Amino acid sequence: MKCDLCQREAVTLIRYNGSHLCSEHFQRYVERRVKKEIRKQIDLSRGDRIGIAVSGGKDSMVMLKLLSDIFGPNNGIELHAITIDEGIAGYRPPSVDIVRDFCGSRGIAFHLRSFKELGVEMDTIAPLSGENSPCTCCGVFRRRLMNDEARRLDVKLLATGHNLDDMSQSIMMNFTRGDIERLARLGPHTRVQPGLIPRFLPLRTIPEREILLYAMVSGLRFWDGECPYSQEALRNQYRSIVDDLETRSPGAKFSILSSYDTLRPMLYREYSGAALHLCECGEPTVGGRCRSCELLEQMRGRIRGP
Ligand code: FES
Ligand code: ZN
Ligand code: ZN
Repeated sequence: MKCDLCQREAVTLIRYNGSHLCSEHFQRYVERRVKKEIRKQIDLSRGDRIGIAVSGGKDSMVMLKLLSDIFGPNNGIELHAITIDEGIAGYRPPSVDIVRDFCGSRGIAFHLRSFKELGVEMDTIAPLSGENSPCTCCGVFRRRLMNDEARRLDVKLLATGHNLDDMSQSIMMNFTRGDIERLARLGPHTRVQPGLIPRFLPLRTIPEREILLYAMVSGLRFWDGECPYSQEALRNQYRSIVDDLETRSPGAKFSILSSYDTLRPMLYREYSGAALHLCECGEPTVGGRCRSCELLEQMRGRIRGP
């Protein structure tokens, strides 16, 4: 099969628009859409700093590469990659090396925070997580360290690598569960709230398979190990529902996202959320203490034992 735009061999058929693209035209196709999405979501001026949440997996590495291509060292935007080490032997260390090496080769500042600082490495707390799944604890502590580092670095925005599949799954999941408040909070964030660094999501319109292909054809190193504690039963269920919809009607994932985008201003108006204040740890919270402080106390108690 030949590329529709040149005579080279095509590397992919984009099912939702029927186009065959060679490696080069495919890369440009992805890059164009990411740039468009960035323009839509954010407005930067010279001297601004942005944080980039990077795990070393395909999504975050593609995001890091694209942001560093777009905001190269000469246009006055400071890029700060932030990686969280959850303390999972054999899983996190190799991916940290990939991120560190890439940042070194591009002159991007690299910041590493670790669950060890909190005294709750995943290899220790996973067997103690009880009614909370290990992933829940992991997510809460990862968000805390990520927010803390982003505040410490005083970044204007924090980029995360959510792709179209993640977005359409989250939208369907929250919609089906009737969790409209959470639905309203899915990024990108347009409001600045105390203690909360607004997220932006440069890859939110790019399907996961295109991100994987982009990483491969552009020769990007990434880590594709699987977390030994991953227990995302609900998310996996929605992954197969959304994939099934996409197979039946190509373009379904885009439609889910664009319907959400149309509803978003209304959701924001209706669910502007309770006023947030800051927990003693610096995290924003609606109650007295934040969830991460509560969970931290619980986990530390379990580590100490009765
Ligand atoms: Fe956190 Fe797997 S990376 S539970
Ligand atoms: Zn081509
Ligand atoms: Zn707290």
